[in-house]
Amino acid sequence: MGIISNDISRAIEILTKGELVAIPTETVYGLAGNIFNEDAVRKIFETKGRPAFNPLIVHIPSIEELNKVVSYIPEKAKQLANAFWPGSLTLVLPKKSSIPDLVTAGKSTVGVRIPNHPITLELLRRLEFPVAAPSANPFNRISPTRPGHVADYFEDSLEMVLDGGVCQKGVESTIIGFENDNPVVYRLGAISVEDIQSVVGTVEIKNKKEQNPEAPGMLLKHYSPRTKIIISESIPADLKAYDREKIGVLSFSKTYNEALVKVNSTLSPSGNLEEAAANLYQALHDLDSQNLTLIVAEKFPEEGLGKTINDRLQRAAS
Ligand code: TXA
Ligand code: MG
Repeated sequence: MGIISNDISRAIEILTKGELVAIPTETVYGLAGNIFNEDAVRKIFETKGRPAFNPLIVHIPSIEELNKVVSYIPEKAKQLANAFWPGSLTLVLPKKSSIPDLVTAGKSTVGVRIPNHPITLELLRRLEFPVAAPSANPFNRISPTRPGHVADYFEDSLEMVLDGGVCQKGVESTIIGFENDNPVVYRLGAISVEDIQSVVGTVEIKNKKEQNPEAPGMLLKHYSPRTKIIISESIPADLKAYDREKIGVLSFSKTYNEALVKVNSTLSPSGNLEEAAANLYQALHDLDSQNLTLIVAEKFPEEGLGKTINDRLQRAAS
């Protein structure tokens, strides 16, 4: 496809002149621009159709660069950074005054992470500035986990998608802020709460907008396919209840061979939650293109990445 390319040098040129490039990360593809170029940051919001109140995540290549972006790092933030970076953890910390207000939507804090993808790490090391990168999907749509998803969304408005293959984690980073120096989960993500707690002890979870106006992006409706989607506690019962619909089933490990199912999409036949998370958005993209009238998604176990998957399914179903 036309705009997909693996030419890192060209990505550097485009970003340096203030245009946008979609970049691979281990979570999802990001829509990247120079944080210090106001036009580039504006283009990110315009291209996504993203409301201006929703701040962007800054991507850096190394822990040394963190001091250029934030003004204060609580002890537990250092522990988390050392444990999980490069990786799927975003820390929300007080920003340096040099970080433009447009990037943080006027907030005094900035979200920052070191992504764990070899191509993007090389890109970030070679750039002379950090990039801001929200997920490379139009506002409210499903996040992209393959270069083709981004090209389908933005073929007409984007110069380049840097090809890094399929995203290994497949769901967005876990976002952690600090209240009185204690970590609070603002968004469930690719690192499980259990793994976070193994490093810093018990953490509070405030990933709903009502619980936390500090995380303006946690809108109830999000990550949505066009097709109507419901979450099911019992798939056989819902297949009966909705027997007039053209149904796609999104399940954890089982398939439903009944005559009532048009498409079965099983996220992990072996019952592995990491694998299920990695396949979630691709499955939603696929189901959404099959002319179904209803997606029946199985409720996942509330543990490990099952919590993250349920969070995304609930937002998709809202
Ligand atoms: O995995 C990811 O985090 C991906 C890849 C591309 O890095 N990025 C991503 O960005 O998911 P985005 O923009 O789709 O989601 C960023 C979330 C939003 O909900 C936003 O509100 C929150 O991070 N956020 C960013 N800065 C924040 C801040 N200073 N305070 C609170 N929330 C913040
Ligand atoms: Mg997003």
